[in-house]
Amino acid sequence: MAEILPYSNPSLSICCDALARSELVAFPTETVYGLGANALDPQAIEKIFEAKKRPKSDPLIVHVAKFEDALGLTDMTEFQGKCFAVLARKFWPGPLTLIVKASSKVPSIVTANSAYVGIRIPNHPVALQLIEQCGFPLAAPSANLFGHVSPTTAQHVFNDLGNYPELFILETNIPCQVGIESTIIKISNDNEIILLRPGAISSIALQSALENENILATVKIKKRELSEKNMDEIESSGQLLTHYSPSLEAFILTHDPNNKLNVDKDFLAKSVLIDFHSKYKNQINNVTEYFDLSLRGDYKEAASNLFSILRKAESTEGANYILLPNFSDVDDELAIAVFDRIYRAASGKFICF
Ligand code: TXA
Ligand code: MG
Repeated sequence: MAEILPYSNPSLSICCDALARSELVAFPTETVYGLGANALDPQAIEKIFEAKKRPKSDPLIVHVAKFEDALGLTDMTEFQGKCFAVLARKFWPGPLTLIVKASSKVPSIVTANSAYVGIRIPNHPVALQLIEQCGFPLAAPSANLFGHVSPTTAQHVFNDLGNYPELFILETNIPCQVGIESTIIKISNDNEIILLRPGAISSIALQSALENENILATVKIKKRELSEKNMDEIESSGQLLTHYSPSLEAFILTHDPNNKLNVDKDFLAKSVLIDFHSKYKNQINNVTEYFDLSLRGDYKEAASNLFSILRKAESTEGANYILLPNFSDVDDELAIAVFDRIYRAASGKFICF
């Protein structure tokens, strides 16, 4: 059985001992909870894939506490190293994962044999203390079952992974404030940086950080590929169409009358409506349950609420469906990042209302 440990110095020591024995520890970050293991210990990493039921073709992000510790895991050209240093110094600790060529120190199970490693310094005091105290980098994917909604509380982790034989889950009252996973970029060719997963750090912020240091590199946003392919064929699991999926069927609301699916009264009565900025507040009595990602229409607040509201929605008694807000016309990178998760939670399905 997994065990939730409220944060304290003795709890931290228990977690570090477990990690040193090749066991797993789930810990909070500023984005979502991570399921951590010693990144340099292939036997420990195996357990992450086993616990999450995650395909081995999906590489893991390595979390470090200091910039210098990141460098030892990489093997970069001078130009790549310059981009890496500028972006890491500007945005770390923070919700930015940098994917670069891995050094031979990084086990191939971490990179899924891709020769590239994703690295970040999380901006959460408990995560930083844990990494520092255990003295090795922590490989950690989100601490949910593969494909399910990401966790932002210790209880969410327990609900998904509670049956795993040996797992400590560190609980703290410092929230996963950002609420959606880190922005992921890949520094591969000498003058191209590819944004693989949108997050709280925008391409505009990345581009301007590079320009301020006179680095001529373009940040390109990888188009959303609605991949129904399996993990062997795509670059990052965040690109899978069905990802972040709640256990109820979900749809995005649209006003497009040409849309094939329509909401009628009966459908609405069996739905959980997840709103934004009180747009559909007048429907509150027509649905099974009603939530609002942000009453005041703030995308930052929506990001931090999204996963916990999705989890509440899927466990609403008597509900069959989840209806989700539509940000597809919003020209704001955080809104785009939140909508990326909403889109995948609904497997790209729209319904006219
Ligand atoms: O905010 C976050 O990034 C959280 C916290 C715990 O740090 N972690 C997280 O990990 O979201 P995960 O595994 O759930 O999502 C990481 C994504 C996956 O889609 C994986 O395929 C991709 O990053 N990824 C990791 N390393 C990669 C690599 N070397 N090359 C390509 N994609 C990589
Ligand atoms: Mg994940």
